Amino acid sequence: MKKITIKNILSKKNKTPIVCLTAYSAITAKIVDKYCDIILVGDSLGMVLYGMKNTREVKIETMILHAKAVKMFSRRSFVVFDMPYKTYTNKITAYKNAKKVIKLTKCDAIKLEGGKEIVGTIKYLVKKGIPVMGHIGLLPQTSSNFKVKGKNTLQEKKIFKDALEISNSGVFAIVIECVLEKLAKKITKTISVPTIGIGASRYCDGQILVTEDMLGLSEKYPKFVKRYTNLSSLMEKNVKKYMQDVKMRKFPSAKNIYR
Ligand code: KIV
Repeated sequence: MKKITIKNILSKKNKTPIVCLTAYSAITAKIVDKYCDIILVGDSLGMVLYGMKNTREVKIETMILHAKAVKMFSRRSFVVFDMPYKTYTNKITAYKNAKKVIKLTKCDAIKLEGGKEIVGTIKYLVKKGIPVMGHIGLLPQTSSNFKVKGKNTLQEKKIFKDALEISNSGVFAIVIECVLEKLAKKITKTISVPTIGIGASRYCDGQILVTEDMLGLSEKYPKFVKRYTNLSSLMEKNVKKYMQDVKMRKFPSAKNIYR
């Protein structure tokens, strides 16, 4: 089993779609590692696992705990640590935090949300040997709403400019979140690094979804999510069955006891 490298990821541009999912736990990592090129330990865990209103409350210590578990159970995929809100406010803070994260979790890279305002930080991190993935379009840490981006000319021009500047700053890939199909297509055609879409159409070099979303284990589902199954209802059905078994003294049965 060969470990995925940045070289592998870059070589897939315009050739093979790059498969990415999120993971926050050992068991999820173990499963998705078999099928994904990139696993993202996303700060979406704040909302998905901890019921937070947004990702701004997520602490770096929480992310480190989850990332350690994910990295320990990922043998093949390239694992990316999503830097939480306010942990990369300037290049010095960003480097201090990124270095700590990589040292403690052994993740392969970090991800930063933002456009041209973080170009200096990315260049600094890359110069210092930290691999960085960009994230443009809808930026959950700072966006005032979760609406599709690129609908007006001003927004479209800004996101396109962000894509150009971020792609020239040394990143190995860029996540494009929730933008119009034509904008994602234009960015993917123009920049030299792979684009990873989430709600950004099939015209990206790869796709990413939050694993809990695609498995039906989340509270809310944006339009861009395809739900492959409904684990919430499966869980409920089986928890109910367990409750009935306990109440009727059907569980534990002879199979489940020590004599
Ligand atoms: O936090 C996250 O899960 C992400 C993905 C949605 C790209 O940033």
